[in-house]
Amino acid sequence: MKHLVPLLLTVGLGCSSKGDTAQPADVVDSSTEPVVSPGPCEDVPTVTYSSFGEGFMTENCQGCHASTAADRYGAPEGVTFDTVKEVWLWQERILARSVGDNISMPPAGGVSKDDRTKLEWWLTCAEEGG
Ligand code: HEC
Repeated sequence: MKHLVPLLLTVGLGCSSKGDTAQPADVVDSSTEPVVSPGPCEDVPTVTYSSFGEGFMTENCQGCHASTAADRYGAPEGVTFDTVKEVWLWQERILARSVGDNISMPPAGGVSKDDRTKLEWWLTCAEEGG
């Protein structure tokens, strides 16, 4: 789809290709055709709770955040990731703390870049609740 933009520009600028009758309105019309740019989730592998999330949360977060954690190391009572539903309730905050340049959870770090990327794909691109 990327090639579509220069194509439209070329058509817009090259009025001669449409003859002398081409009016500015024609140019505007052609450039307002929807240009679908690939969203951030296009071509991203499918990542879900069952394929990745559950294991990831158990391994990296639930040590402190599980409702049953022996020692929460100060993790707030209400911030638990026991079920996929609970994780999605915290979707925004998890993205804000554990994805991309946001690496403040878990506090001690140690999560690979690959896993952070998968976490982002999951909570950004999966169907909500999945
Ligand atoms: C060593 C214990 C520990 C681990 C492991 C841990 N956390 Fe936390 N978490 C905390 C503590 C302590 C707080 C409260 C202080 C704070 O917000 O920094 C907290 C708070 C939070 C909050 C709520 C605060 C906010 O910013 O909204 C979220 C969301 C969170 N953690 C996500 C995660 C995720 C996701 C993981 C796993 C990738 C994780 N945590 C792993 C200890 C932990």
